[in-house]
Amino acid sequence: METRVVKIDIKNIDTEAIEDAGRIIRDGGLVAFPTETVYGLGGDAFNPKSSQKIYAAKGRPSDNPLIVHIADLSDLGKVAKDIPDAVYKVAKAFWPGPLTMILKKVDNLPKETTGGLDTVAVRMPVHPVALDFIRAAGGFVAAPSANLSGKPSPTSSKYVIEDMFGRIEMIIDGGDSDIGLESTIIDMTSEEPMILRPGFITQDDLLRVLLTVNIDETIMSDTSGKAPKAPGMKYRHYAPKGDLTIIDGETKKVIDYINQKVLTARADNIRTGVISTDETYSFYEADAVKTIGSRNDEASIAKNLFRILREFDDEDIDLIFAESFSNTGISMATMNRLLKAAGHKEVKL
Ligand code: TXA
Ligand code: MG
Repeated sequence: METRVVKIDIKNIDTEAIEDAGRIIRDGGLVAFPTETVYGLGGDAFNPKSSQKIYAAKGRPSDNPLIVHIADLSDLGKVAKDIPDAVYKVAKAFWPGPLTMILKKVDNLPKETTGGLDTVAVRMPVHPVALDFIRAAGGFVAAPSANLSGKPSPTSSKYVIEDMFGRIEMIIDGGDSDIGLESTIIDMTSEEPMILRPGFITQDDLLRVLLTVNIDETIMSDTSGKAPKAPGMKYRHYAPKGDLTIIDGETKKVIDYINQKVLTARADNIRTGVISTDETYSFYEADAVKTIGSRNDEASIAKNLFRILREFDDEDIDLIFAESFSNTGISMATMNRLLKAAGHKEVKL
């Protein structure tokens, strides 16, 4: 298939290109588009064939439901039913933005879109190109992240092109994603709301408008035991080609440990990489030392993780060590993705 790549300036949106993209969706095709979190791979949420095409293009298991993206709150009632008041409180506070809510689905939303579930994930992104595109597409765009299944979510068009070129009709290039990790998912169908996937919007943020917010206990642990509530969270994710281990402990000990491992690997001609921070960057000896950002700025750390994991692949790194981050605030989201990427391999010093 021929894939058209269109660059769109966020400050001067090309309405003709957006109209073309919308038409592709309405005709049953697929378009990758930028959002503030990561790039999405969009199809018409009400067309079961479009959802099947999305699974095929990603190589994704079809029991892993898609997120339905809307652009106007008045459209919520067309995809979800029995909507509790709390949902409107959360929407008022965090939409448009990096938050997805799980709600009861309406009967005419195809099961293909919701992975066979009778609930639906809904999000209203804040990215202006995404909003214009959703409206041009008819208002309901089903979209997972625009990566091949198992790879890190794409945070720039470069990685969308790498994974999706030749598989879909169009890729909209809207520059780098601001947030760099996928949206927070909160289940609003349970008696007490529960976070199923941590993200930029934190438990504390949500507690400003909700009385209780639980966190799915499988989020930070090895998921081999209990099944997580978001089906997609059970799959191996984000894994770089190299073997990744997280090293946790006092900073000096972590640096010494990693440098020792790097020396041993080098003797065997194994290429090494390190995910460091601005504060520790200059102390490492590996072949590819990356800084993920400053420990004083957890949003920048979240933003850079997926890009760095992809860069290690580009540079053929065999063995990767990452520093560890806290389990609170936005870092909880970073740590959740890092643990998945490492298959929960962590050394505590
Ligand atoms: O930021 C984001 O959310 C991005 C952008 C493109 O909006 N999208 C994204 O989609 O990350 P995806 O498909 O990679 O992740 C969707 C997650 C999966 O873990 C899936 O299992 C979960 O949402 N999910 C979808 N519908 C659900 C439902 N009805 N109940 C529970 N989990 C659901
Ligand atoms: Mg994904």
